[in-house]
Amino acid sequence: MSQPLNLMTPEVRANPYPLYAELRRRPVCQVEPGGMWAVSRYDDVVTVLKDPRRFSSEGLGRSFRPPWLERNPTADSLVMKDPPEHTRLRSLVTRAFNGATLSRLEPSIRAIAEELADSAVRRQEVDFIAEFALPLPARVLNLFFGLEPAMALRLKHWADDLVSIPASQPSPQRQEEIRHSLQEMERCFNALIEQRRARPGDELVSELLRGELTHEEVLSFLFGLVPAGVETTVYLLANTMVVLSEHPRELERVRENPALIPRLIEEVLRFEPPGQSSLRLTTEDVELSGVRIPRGSIVVALVGAAMRDESRFPQADQFLLERESQSSLAFGHGPHYCLGAMLARLEARLGLEALFSRIGGFSLQRKELDWSQSIIARGPRALPLHLEPMR
Ligand code: HEM
Repeated sequence: MSQPLNLMTPEVRANPYPLYAELRRRPVCQVEPGGMWAVSRYDDVVTVLKDPRRFSSEGLGRSFRPPWLERNPTADSLVMKDPPEHTRLRSLVTRAFNGATLSRLEPSIRAIAEELADSAVRRQEVDFIAEFALPLPARVLNLFFGLEPAMALRLKHWADDLVSIPASQPSPQRQEEIRHSLQEMERCFNALIEQRRARPGDELVSELLRGELTHEEVLSFLFGLVPAGVETTVYLLANTMVVLSEHPRELERVRENPALIPRLIEEVLRFEPPGQSSLRLTTEDVELSGVRIPRGSIVVALVGAAMRDESRFPQADQFLLERESQSSLAFGHGPHYCLGAMLARLEARLGLEALFSRIGGFSLQRKELDWSQSIIARGPRALPLHLEPMR
């Protein structure tokens, strides 16, 4: 019996792609941590994601409600539900994410992106995460919620606390901090819901209240958007800069022809996806690629591995701007397909347009990056860049 492969060693987190290649050779197998079942080939990942009856999302919420946390509405958010409950909720929230909402937000998103790009380029030496990649989605989500601008920083703080819950064995003091964050979030969202109920407008919460959702359902949905809408978009922007620092010719091409930016974003989403995997629980014994996975197992569908699968993406380990976009799984697949995909693509496009129109080039100020220690979200925790202003 060979040793189980481990998704969580520092080397793998720094560069998971060699391990993914190894996993695709034994496409369904148990891995560390915890003996989860890793699924790594494109077709198998699609099978898992499109079949909520056998691969359930319900139950995963448990990791967001550890014994030291009496209440956490995130555990009941949309992404943790199965049909028919998921189908009902999703049909009620989808229209808040339509094209009209995005067109309404676009000028404000562009203005935020331009302000952040001006300030970053003026400073030249920046931590790209702290000064651009993070404030952009945090301020956009703030706008989307219809919160006061000053709340953007709190949103980021809440997002950090929420994503730390499943992985952590926190000290009593840290537990208290996280409980405090959740209470603060709940007070903030309750006040927002009450305000919009009294004076409906055309923003997200008013739109949600027009559907037949209970107060608790609106609350859980808003809680779920905080981690979903911030961290992944931060890493999309950051991963784009990391990939471009390794592909200077592509940077030149995109700077000369900004119409290539949407292609750049799609290829970064395939080559270095911010969402590396999705978790599911098997509801019965399942056979996949000839391997039997027992009922009640945790399955990790490795999107990052599936998008390097040669049978789907020829020259998969190469970053190719000319690649025609082919059924990306970066925003998931099937019933849980990301509701914010259009918003995330818009934020990334406007952010990169604002930045590239102001710089003549940039360089990474550090060889070794400190990558996120998560099997779900991948990106650098800090990204020191030198930005050369355009002459
Ligand atoms: C680059 C940025 C983003 C990436 C890579 C991303 C990725 C994903 C993925 C992979 C899923 C499916 C999870 C699963 O199947 O278990 C998902 C679901 C979701 N995402 Fe995103 N996301 C991004 C940005 C956003 C934004 C900006 C928002 C909203 C403000 C958002 C809201 C959601 C919601 C509500 C769901 C749950 C949908 C459902 O369960 O029906 N996402 N996202």
